[in-house]
Amino acid sequence: MQTGQQTMDEKRVETIHAHLRGRNIVLIGMMGAGKSSVGRRLAAVLDLPFVDADTEIELAANLTIAEIFSTYGEDHFRQGERKVIARLLGGGPRVIATGGGAFMNEKTRAEIGRRAISLWLKATVPLLMERVQRKANRPLLSDADPEAMIKRLLAIREPLYATADLIVASRDAPHTAIVDDALKALEDFLLCENGK
Ligand code: S3P
Repeated sequence: MQTGQQTMDEKRVETIHAHLRGRNIVLIGMMGAGKSSVGRRLAAVLDLPFVDADTEIELAANLTIAEIFSTYGEDHFRQGERKVIARLLGGGPRVIATGGGAFMNEKTRAEIGRRAISLWLKATVPLLMERVQRKANRPLLSDADPEAMIKRLLAIREPLYATADLIVASRDAPHTAIVDDALKALEDFLLCENGK
């Protein structure tokens, strides 16, 4: 029992809050990496608001992402995505889950760099495949060969994802385990930033 004594998690959360300085925590990574599920739980542990950029884009457009792609095309979606993420970054501190392509935009990357700590939720192709097959709502994967598409996108995106402040491995484990890893990574990063 922990009476009159902080648990490891409580201490970690306190350290993170002490050094966050109003910044957001932004989850980046491929479709199916678990950004929304992990982000939502991470926000709950940190007692910060959570927002999902894709949901916000859908609300702003009053259309689903699939409808935006099919009616207006990917470029239009990307423009909306950039604006919505810039707006979300202005309202921090909070935990923000972004769509898999958001970090490819140079302006979005720069804004995230200024106003957030970025966390790449890194996942292997088999894990991504297993996860994305559960939902058929991703226009970029409506392709005949979604695995080839994921590999193609990964080859382009990984070098940029790898510039994130933190990298946490997504794996087939309870979300709480990934959230724990994210908390540790955040604490280490913030302490290191402060030269401790
Ligand atoms: C996309 C990922 C999706 C969504 C859109 C495009 C991408 O979000 O933004 O379908 O380019 O990887 P998730 O990563 O949340 O699936």
